[in-house]
Amino acid sequence: MLNAVRPFVRGARKLVAKSKLRSLPGNGFPQSVLPAAAYLVSEKTDERAEKIADRIEAERDRLASFGSQKVDILYSPKPGSAGSTVTADLRPSHGEVMQFSMEQVARTGKTRRWGLFMHLLAREHRSANILELGTCAGISGSYIGSSPHCQQLRTIEGSPALAELARSVLPLTVSNPTVINALFDEALDDILPVIEPIDFLFIDGHHEKIATLHYWQRVRPKLRDGAIVVFDDISWSQDMRDGWNELAREPHFSHAMDFGIVGVCIYRTAGTKPPRQWDLRAIAGVGKGVGNPHGWRN
Ligand SMILES: C[S@@+](CC[C@H](N)C(=O)[O-])C[C@H]1O[C@@H](n2cnc3c(N)ncnc32)[C@H](O)[C@@H]1O
Repeated sequence: MLNAVRPFVRGARKLVAKSKLRSLPGNGFPQSVLPAAAYLVSEKTDERAEKIADRIEAERDRLASFGSQKVDILYSPKPGSAGSTVTADLRPSHGEVMQFSMEQVARTGKTRRWGLFMHLLAREHRSANILELGTCAGISGSYIGSSPHCQQLRTIEGSPALAELARSVLPLTVSNPTVINALFDEALDDILPVIEPIDFLFIDGHHEKIATLHYWQRVRPKLRDGAIVVFDDISWSQDMRDGWNELAREPHFSHAMDFGIVGVCIYRTAGTKPPRQWDLRAIAGVGKGVGNPHGWRN
């Protein structure tokens, strides 16, 4: 796109986003999600939340300053590696262990914009018991767990080096965080029998449709009625997009909100019809394109 045209396109997108946002209140849109949606459009929030973000971003910069120093990370496997049946018993194989630089690890964490979005979601929803699958260095966990209503953040990470890193990052902004160093399924075996009802679930790792549906189904019985469930990277690959399209028809959700990068759902224990679907990609300023990591589609 020509540089001269860019500001006009950006301006037009903002107008569409604002008009979409104005259409939500009074139209059955969940009240607790409105401030986070509004933030995506204005990119402004209150001083308290901005200060927390400044603290987390300073820590991200510090991690990035270690530059090319290497750390292990579990990369999402190519779709299909987990087989083709979704049952609670199926254990999808995790991805390859790869070496990322500290700079890449710092960038892998959710951005300030999406971090604040989730902070506002957790805050407005008054989420007390939070579970995250996919800690990495603890950036998203810091944003969600620093909500003033958080009483317990549990986060699961398969890489020992990343779990150790997160154990030093999270306490800077989160009180009482627990980092579990295990594969998702192994950690869930241990915590699901004893965990209190979950108010906020964030699934951000093992980005394969079948794995995403599997982890959601495993945690589902432990969700509190009205809990928020956030699925990350729903447009990362066609496979993940197919997964989101299935989740967005799941009767156990009352609302399925498509923000393009993340999908946000509201859980209900009893449900017989599909959720109300919201296409909010315009609000997020995200197009309808779907990623094609490593040419996996071919
Ligand atoms: C996208 S990163 C998480 C980023 C983090 N939520 C943030 O925004 O700051 C995904 C993480 O999940 C971990 N992971 C992927 N598959 C896993 C599995 N099956 N069990 C445990 N950890 C896994 C990876 O090692 C990686 O650190």
